[in-house]
Amino acid sequence: MKYQSAVSFVAALLLFLSASCQPPANDLKKSAGLITSQLKLLAGHYTEAKINPGGARADAVTVRSLNVAGDLNLIPSKDWCSGFVAGSLWQAYALTGDKALMKLAVDFTKPLEQEKYNGKTHDMGFKMFCSFGQGYVLTRDTSYRSILIQSAKTLSTRFNEKVGAIRSWDHNQDKWQFPVIIDNMMNLELLFWASKQTGDQRYYDIAVKHANTTLANHFRPDNSSYHVIGYDTLTGKVLQKNTHQGLSHESAWSRGQAWGLYGYTMCYRETKIGSYLQQAEKIAAFILNHPNLPKDKIPYWDFDAPASAQTPRDASAAAVTASALFELAQYVPAKKEYYLQSAAAILSSLEKNYASKAGENKGFLLGHSTGSFPSKTEVDVPINYADYYYLEAIGRQIDSNKKSK
Ligand code: GLY
Repeated sequence: MKYQSAVSFVAALLLFLSASCQPPANDLKKSAGLITSQLKLLAGHYTEAKINPGGARADAVTVRSLNVAGDLNLIPSKDWCSGFVAGSLWQAYALTGDKALMKLAVDFTKPLEQEKYNGKTHDMGFKMFCSFGQGYVLTRDTSYRSILIQSAKTLSTRFNEKVGAIRSWDHNQDKWQFPVIIDNMMNLELLFWASKQTGDQRYYDIAVKHANTTLANHFRPDNSSYHVIGYDTLTGKVLQKNTHQGLSHESAWSRGQAWGLYGYTMCYRETKIGSYLQQAEKIAAFILNHPNLPKDKIPYWDFDAPASAQTPRDASAAAVTASALFELAQYVPAKKEYYLQSAAAILSSLEKNYASKAGENKGFLLGHSTGSFPSKTEVDVPINYADYYYLEAIGRQIDSNKKSK
């Protein structure tokens, strides 16, 4: 969501009112109020947990999720999820113009700075672009710009020419020589941004090469994607086609499909390369027409997981998908209405049946996300990235209504 300035709540409300397929004004006023009060509640719970002697880890900078008992999971800046609460606060500030949210956004963004030198992870985009990047759009703070450029520089050290991709993980070296996960598509946005800001073509070239390599190797004939592709660093050849968070190597892990859809839509925005748009459309078709997509449009944690009332959903995959579809609609005039309506249906389902009521879930906006079912972590709980992409989808819906006026 690229805001040139914070959109006031009243302006947002008027935009909502003027658009088709919108909930009534009272609901919208309630949602903006709910988003604001929930995020302030979340920030308060974090601060309380952080100062509670013996209660929190000393290096905690934010909160990632709730466990099944409803306790906060506090995380350090190196965690891949460290930027999402800051990013949600920036986005909520953009939606409401509430200055207290902006102050909180600044406070949650600041302690992430050290990550700009952390070359041990590919998650730089998630951590830095969702926090400092959102903040930079709204404030034009030049220190944020420098931090982002250094972050892109550090991320690019993980690019391997022979493989033609950015290395995702350093763990499990006995399993994969050079693992690349579909999630990594999301980190390319930082590189495209850095290329435009600095005029350095290398960032752009790395992003395009990574997207091309992923396009060549991650997708199956039905346009679903593998989670992890393991490469040989000497030959650049594919050694493994695996999963880490999905049901099986050949299954379609739901959030992975959403990362791919969002990633190729964003890559098309940045490059106008036709094959990226085609891939995004193919992924959208895979998701939206899947026979195992529940009627309420919120996927099970894996598209191949059994269809049952007991199978956990992944609200985060739905939020990422909705946000991506709002953007995809802009690039495909012939299917614009279809993608907009699909995105709006997902968003409405999240709002009606997955969003927390006032005071619930310690301030998280959405419940029912699944982090990693195979490792039994964060199953059917609120997680911060679901909230981030939910807010982004809401912002994109407002923007798309504004454009269609
Ligand atoms: N990027 C890690 C995940 O989606 O769980």
